[in-house]
Amino acid sequence: MRKVLLLTAAFCFVAAGTALAFHDAGVAHCNGCHTMHNSEDGALVDPDSPNGNAWLLRDATASDVCLSCHGDHLGAVFGDDPLAPPSPIGAGNFVYLLEDNLNDGHAGASNPIGGDAAGHNIVAPSRGVAADATLMSSPGGSFPSSSLGCSSCHDPHGNDDFRMLYSAGPIQDGLFNFTNAAPEATGRSIFGGAPGAHTAYQDGMSSWCGNCHGDFHDEANGRLIHPSGSAIGGTIAQTYNLYNGTADITGGAQATAYLEEVPFEDAANTSIMSTEGPSAGSKVMCLTCHRAHASSGPDAGRWDFSVTLLEEDGLESGSYALPDPYGDDDQRSLCNKCHKKDANDHIATP
Ligand code: HEC
Ligand code: HEC
Ligand code: HEC
Ligand code: HEC
Ligand code: HEC
Ligand code: HEC
Repeated sequence: MRKVLLLTAAFCFVAAGTALAFHDAGVAHCNGCHTMHNSEDGALVDPDSPNGNAWLLRDATASDVCLSCHGDHLGAVFGDDPLAPPSPIGAGNFVYLLEDNLNDGHAGASNPIGGDAAGHNIVAPSRGVAADATLMSSPGGSFPSSSLGCSSCHDPHGNDDFRMLYSAGPIQDGLFNFTNAAPEATGRSIFGGAPGAHTAYQDGMSSWCGNCHGDFHDEANGRLIHPSGSAIGGTIAQTYNLYNGTADITGGAQATAYLEEVPFEDAANTSIMSTEGPSAGSKVMCLTCHRAHASSGPDAGRWDFSVTLLEEDGLESGSYALPDPYGDDDQRSLCNKCHKKDANDHIATP
């Protein structure tokens, strides 16, 4: 008897030791997400769907299933309150989709921009969110908004890529086809990280987003749009490195210039703790300006694109104010990190 108890205890210990792993970069145990009969202990697994779900899932949609574990813990990608979001790990939070107004531009209070502009509208009835009401498909491409969910970007059956993002090939049971590889990057653990830890982006993010957004923001073919996925060059790299806020445009140094709010890609970005700024070959890319999930600014901006001074964020709309990395009342748009158009600023009182 004693032996059995000891064995049981040993088993529990092993189970507890691995309890934090689920996908393990591969396919997790099937019944974490699927139910064969929609029945457990004689009760319905998903009481809202007495006849079961498409793909025999445990909840209405793939996103609902993922959010049962990742909603308010394990990365907390869908916090509980859009005014008190969990601090972003990399991708940003979906909770802002619940906002009633994100518009902090002039007269924003009387011209609301709804939460569906906060970013990717995942279809997740358990959280009260549905497909985007404005964009029927991905701008620049053709992915249908009505099918957008966690498993449109992350492989539910796991893989070795950064954050289990899909590479080229069919996705979502053949609904759509990706043509470009998964991005290369290193992220911090979803269980925590030291202050200052951030995603280290290496390569391929812009073309990966292009799987659904086509050549949006791609200068090729003579299009006059902002570059993405191309080298910034020595002049802009130097501007980035010296820029230390509106009040201190040339006081920075490359060794400490990195700003999580304005990241760039570089093969040399191997450390999630690096504070190093860019060099000429570093690339501006989609996530230089956007969050991959959503943010508290329209168009999933890493900062609010429609305010003049960052301190205006949240004032008109009453939405969460994205933190100003320089903590200065007179700080202007973070586009200036690469373009310093706030040189000779008239408001700044250094
Ligand atoms: C992390 C959640 C998760 C786990 C674990 C999981 N699945 Fe799935 N599975 C899904 C989702 C979500 C879909 C719906 C298609 C989609 O959205 O990609 C799906 C679809 C399927 C399909 C049909 C469509 C397809 O993509 O082939 C089969 C078959 C399947 N899963 C089998 C399995 C088996 C077998 C296991 C265990 C070895 C498993 N799944 C583990 C989430 C999961
Ligand atoms: C039963 C709980 C559970 C469910 C359901 C679940 N996950 Fe996870 N997920 C975990 C745990 C635990 C980890 C961390 C350890 C690991 O990677 O196995 C994790 C890690 C992750 C990571 C981070 C991997 C990394 O690189 O650090 C991603 C991305 C992810 N899950 C996506 C999904 C998606 C998408 C779904 C739905 C298709 C899903 N998860 C469903 C428990 C879950
Ligand atoms: C699986 C397809 C898919 C991928 C991959 C994808 N998107 Fe999207 N994206 C969409 C769809 C569909 C919409 C329109 C519906 C919506 O906004 O929810 C959209 C909308 C957007 C919007 C506008 C949001 C709004 O409501 O105004 C931005 C910004 C965006 N995507 C950026 C990105 C970036 C950056 C990446 C890469 C990190 C990316 N997307 C990858 C499908 C995708
Ligand atoms: C449009 C594509 C897209 C969709 C949809 C999407 N993700 Fe992500 N997700 C990403 C990308 C890209 C990253 C890495 C972003 C970074 O580090 O900047 C990421 C990162 C993550 C992480 C790591 C922690 C973090 O915040 O960076 C988790 C966990 C995760 N996603 C879970 C989910 C879940 C759960 C869903 C559905 C509710 C979901 N994702 C929907 C693209 C997507
Ligand atoms: C230099 C910053 C920057 C970069 C880099 C960038 N964007 Fe944008 N993006 C913006 C701004 C600002 C907007 C708001 C609309 C505008 O100004 O055109 C926007 C809007 C969008 C929209 C919404 C368009 C609509 O019709 O509502 C999508 C989708 C989008 N970006 C996707 C991407 C993708 C995909 C990439 C990478 C290939 C990317 N962006 C790179 C700044 C950027
Ligand atoms: C990571 C650095 C970076 C950031 C951040 C950035 N840009 Fe740029 N921007 C570039 C690069 C690189 C070019 C191309 C410059 C060149 O070829 O001389 C460029 C070019 C431009 C141009 C000129 C285009 C042309 O055809 O001459 C404009 C306008 C511009 N950016 C506006 C913006 C705005 C607005 C933002 C913020 C939403 C922004 N940029 C954020 C790197 C950046």
